[in-house]
Amino acid sequence: MRIALTVNGELHDTEAWPGESLLYVLRERLGLPGSKNACEQGECGSCSVLLDGVLVCACLVLGVQAEGHEVVTVEGLAENGGLHPVQEAFVEAGAVQCGFCTPGLVMAVADLIRRSPSPSDDEIREALSGNLCRCTGYQKIFDAVRLAAS
Ligand code: FES
Ligand code: FES
Repeated sequence: MRIALTVNGELHDTEAWPGESLLYVLRERLGLPGSKNACEQGECGSCSVLLDGVLVCACLVLGVQAEGHEVVTVEGLAENGGLHPVQEAFVEAGAVQCGFCTPGLVMAVADLIRRSPSPSDDEIREALSGNLCRCTGYQKIFDAVRLAAS
């Protein structure tokens, strides 16, 4: 079947099997590999995107459910060819090691700061509770969130 959805402000019309995930549609149909596929079970947050402004795991949403809706991926955060402030903060704070978790974390942090510009430590922990990182120990990620918020 064919589905139409807006991704990063651009309307796409693409083929999609009814059972495939939004993550598959983004990565394999639309050529947007920024959202990572690590668990495909809603456990790691590496596939986080905004669906109509709400942070979701793209692996848990069917592609057909995005029909007629707006998706923002990590590729859509950068503005005017420059990095998004959250991306800059991750680089500056040294919060990236292997980088596999980073796109999902960047999406989650950008969503947090949009909702709560000066988040408390508890808000940061809650907001990032769905994003797993196996490299950093999270301290640098916390530093990046505080830096981005400042
Ligand atoms: S790949 Fe979607 S939550 Fe892990
Ligand atoms: S930087 Fe490697 S999993 Fe987070």
